[in-house]
Amino acid sequence: MDEVGKKTAESTEALALLAQAYDDTIQVLGSALDLKDGKSAGHCQRVTAYTISIARTVPVPPQYLEVLARAAFLHDIGKMAIPDKILLKPGPLDDSEKQIMRTHCEIGYNVLTRVPFLREAADIVLAHHEFFDGAGYPRGLRGEQIPLGARIISIANALDAMLSDCPYRSALPMSHGREEIRCCAGTQFDPKIVEVFLTIPEKHWVELRENLDAPYRLSYYLKTLRMA
Ligand SMILES: [Fe+2]
Repeated sequence: MDEVGKKTAESTEALALLAQAYDDTIQVLGSALDLKDGKSAGHCQRVTAYTISIARTVPVPPQYLEVLARAAFLHDIGKMAIPDKILLKPGPLDDSEKQIMRTHCEIGYNVLTRVPFLREAADIVLAHHEFFDGAGYPRGLRGEQIPLGARIISIANALDAMLSDCPYRSALPMSHGREEIRCCAGTQFDPKIVEVFLTIPEKHWVELRENLDAPYRLSYYLKTLRMA
């Protein structure tokens, strides 16, 4: 290899190591939320895996997949700042508690947007509770005003919430989850992405849920995305 080729290889390797160091840091941040909110342990890993499955079927460009994986992993990071009595309340939230809980989108955005590497992911995190018909929060964006990544994550997030036990109800069956998402096409969710989601067979989600790597490592997951 000539001198230029050697230098290029060294730079590529250094950049890969740097990206891995960033992703290891993101992994620690996401895991910290799991420690605080033990009941939803594994939620950010599952939402990341579901998001990538949907995004690949859409499909989105490979570089955007990486942005999306980081955004999905960190989508609820703002919940770190929500008081435990609200975050861990064993029942439905009242109106004032809901208002406080809803601030997790802006809090997450404000934390992530300070990191240039995560700026695009921050925009997605801010919008992950927007509704396609404009009835979501925090800004009431509608349709394609909502970043594509946020429109994908909102489906992945709802699917995992329905398939998981929560403080006031048991997990719902997969068929119910898919039907609920189909019913909310055009209101909560982007109908075109729901159409894509419904082409993915039920058994894919069941297998994905059962086979998520333990311990899950975001940097490893991203490496497999780059190699795919
Ligand atoms: Fe959220």
